[in-house]
Amino acid sequence: MASSVVLGAQWGDEGKGKIVDMYSAQADVVMRYQGGHNAGHTVWVNNTKYVLHLIPAGIIQKDTLNLIGNGVVVDPEALVKEMEELSRMGISFSGRFFVSDRAHVIMPYHAVFDKRREEMKGDKKIGTTGRGIGPCYADKVNRGGIRMGDLLNMALLREKLEEFLEPINAAAKNIYGLPQFSRKEILKQLEKYAEILKPYIADTAVLVNNAIAKNKKVMLEGAQGTLLDIDFGTYPYVTSSNGTAGGACCGTGISPLKIDKIVGVTKAYTTRVGGGPFPTELLDETGENLRKKGNEYGATTGRPRRCGWLDLVALRYSAMINGISHIALTKLDVLSGMKTIKACVSYNIDGKETTVFPSDITKLEQAEPVYKTFDGWSENISNVRRIEELPKAAREYIDFIKNNVMTPYCVVSVGTDRTQTIVLEKVF
Ligand code: GDP
Ligand code: IMO
Ligand code: MG
Repeated sequence: MASSVVLGAQWGDEGKGKIVDMYSAQADVVMRYQGGHNAGHTVWVNNTKYVLHLIPAGIIQKDTLNLIGNGVVVDPEALVKEMEELSRMGISFSGRFFVSDRAHVIMPYHAVFDKRREEMKGDKKIGTTGRGIGPCYADKVNRGGIRMGDLLNMALLREKLEEFLEPINAAAKNIYGLPQFSRKEILKQLEKYAEILKPYIADTAVLVNNAIAKNKKVMLEGAQGTLLDIDFGTYPYVTSSNGTAGGACCGTGISPLKIDKIVGVTKAYTTRVGGGPFPTELLDETGENLRKKGNEYGATTGRPRRCGWLDLVALRYSAMINGISHIALTKLDVLSGMKTIKACVSYNIDGKETTVFPSDITKLEQAEPVYKTFDGWSENISNVRRIEELPKAAREYIDFIKNNVMTPYCVVSVGTDRTQTIVLEKVF
């Protein structure tokens, strides 16, 4: 028995939380592999809403082991707050939740720098979540980061901070025009969180590989989406980690040979939060309708999401980069009641038609989508549980997507609740 990856195939918010929660019923271990509390994953179970940022969506099922991998960046304050909120909702952590000792810590100065950099960029801002994600990953790569394991050795942490804080404070003063950060204050805060988090810090690479060796079912949970990936996304309008399938190995310590299936969670249309090119964006009433019907407001920042038609050029690219074995199609119900539905099959760039997703965002900014138009359907489909029961027009739309991307569905989701799902193929 090998592991499966569940990742976002578009620009994030595809419904990964719902799909991970649904599969958690069969999984023994759920492990997050990248990103931080920039993510917002909403899960509905019997009218109860859970919003997860850092903690894997597997935590809602009672019996799963949940791990935060080394590829994740952890703000200890945000983690403690999220654990407290979920504990109040009746979720237990003891013995079933661990965070990698290799995961990097988001320090107070990271979030301050993130926000300040955005301010300084003016019109060219990325539209980050302001959580300190980019500056934390930058310090990690620059070998100036603090890791969760450092919280277990305060004496060493004190030394490291002395060394690392010097360039941080120089940047605060000379680049960002900000006040100095106090080592004492930072240490005081970290000491407080270290005390709470100590029992949960572990070598998660060993834990997950032990589970694999015992034939346990492991699900690797991505955050963000392929088009926000630091390498393959619409750079620089991206996040600072690899949400794509490769990131699942580096972010957990699992060999690629142990990964069996890759589920690409895909919304039946497209949304994006923050800046950057979005060829199929709808700035009209249809876009507004999608936002309202789909409740497209960010779970982390509350920002309205930009909405548009499904982009099959981007989705085929995503299938290629990730090797998606199955599509989990979400929010098909949101399209009910639309007279017609469109999907972009190619782009017109510089007067030439292309089906290749360009690596150069100046080309993507110019791309004019070439659409195929589909008939809509009026029926409410949120109670449908078998694919044959979908209206003919809905079947035609989803069959087209499947054939165009040449990838089968594992599930088609028709509502927010765990049970509002049409299951087509088992991936566990
Ligand atoms: P994630 O970041 O990929 O986990 O996605 P988010 O949770 O940020 O956004 C997806 C939103 O769509 C959440 O509010 C979900 O409750 C909701 N959702 C997920 N699947 C469906 C679906 O099939 N239909 C509808 N109407 N809503 C869904
Ligand atoms: P989930 O996991 C949608 C976007 C931000 C911004 C860019 C960089 O819920 O799908 P960052 O704070 O990461 O440096 O911001 O990435 N972004 C997301 N958009 N869903 C997310 O997560 C996102 N996480 C980051 O809006 O454009
Ligand atoms: Mg989200």
